Amino acid sequence: MDRLKGKVALISGGARGQGAAEARLFVNEGAKVVVGDVLDSQATALAREINGQNRNVVAVHLDVTRADDWRSAVAVCEKEFGGLDILINNAGIFNTSGLEDTSEELWDAIVNINQKGVWLGMKEAVAAMRNRGGGAIVNISSVAGLSGSSGSTAYHGTKGAVRLLTKAAAVQYARTGIRVNSVHPGLIGTQMIDIIPREQREYYVKNVVPMGREGTAEEVAKLVLFLSCDDSSYCTGAEFIVDGGMTANLISQRIRSAERNSGRVLPGLVVEVIAMRRDLPVAHFEHPRDRQVERLALPAKPIDTFSQHDVARRRDRDHLEID
Ligand SMILES: NC(=O)c1ccc[n+]([C@@H]2O[C@H](COP(=O)([O-])OP(=O)(O)OC[C@H]3O[C@@H](n4cnc5c(N)ncnc54)[C@H](O)[C@@H]3O)[C@@H](O)[C@H]2O)c1
Repeated sequence: MDRLKGKVALISGGARGQGAAEARLFVNEGAKVVVGDVLDSQATALAREINGQNRNVVAVHLDVTRADDWRSAVAVCEKEFGGLDILINNAGIFNTSGLEDTSEELWDAIVNINQKGVWLGMKEAVAAMRNRGGGAIVNISSVAGLSGSSGSTAYHGTKGAVRLLTKAAAVQYARTGIRVNSVHPGLIGTQMIDIIPREQREYYVKNVVPMGREGTAEEVAKLVLFLSCDDSSYCTGAEFIVDGGMTANLISQRIRSAERNSGRVLPGLVVEVIAMRRDLPVAHFEHPRDRQVERLALPAKPIDTFSQHDVARRRDRDHLEID
């Protein structure tokens, strides 16, 4: 109940979703919280809801792309609650555009919020944390910061950057008592993923997430709490995944995407794709029953342009039924 007793936390993007769940949990654990967001009325309503008769939460206007806003938010932590111990760099935006579909304007917006915003937050918070003799920073990345996919180019780029910004800061501040870690959520049922069509969300949950469901904001908040309190006193520069097993399931993801592209269930499991010659990739299929491996030559093209779709197409064309 009192894991954050006496601590002051600043949560960016805290008006709704995961940030709001963290604000609620942190107050339950004894913290004072400053919630910063561009959604002013939602942040104020959240503060009012959590506070009841008390004054544990203050809402501030914070656009994470603006250094001035960060300075004001840190100043509010110090003036209202006496200092700053915990920073949750949670604000973020998501977009599914691929490399060529991403406009320069969209790229800048995503990089500014998801990447520059995290750097600015840490930059403005560390002095206040040093004054308290240490602190904890939790940067919210994503499973999209651990691997790529065929879309969301800017999102992947920024979330990957957050992962390494975290490690760089962790190393730099390790001797000051400031710990810095990254959290990598999978598919979490917040408003952010409303832009993913329902059918696609259901497909992911059924075929890609081993636990067979989306995660909740509260489940992420519990991990963020662990990293914010002394229970994680020897953790810094590390990445923590909360994804229902999604990233542990890479081979299934690959075969499922081949199935989706080909419109049929593939009988074998693609275990490896290698280039026998410079321009001639070969797929290795493992048969589910006898575990024998079949080699299948693929269309002659550079291996870096090869896709699972090519495997499926080739199998169809050659009638190579192996089941
Ligand atoms: N929902 C998921 O499936 C998922 C998966 C992996 C990672 N994440 C990450 O988790 C974090 C929280 O997302 P969520 O799921 O709660 O989504 P959400 O959209 O509900 O919350 C994001 C919050 O960030 C705020 N925000 C956006 N731009 C801002 C800015 N310039 N300054 C300040 N605040 C700003 C929004 O107003 C919103 O309150 C994000 O960093 C997101 O990328 C989410």
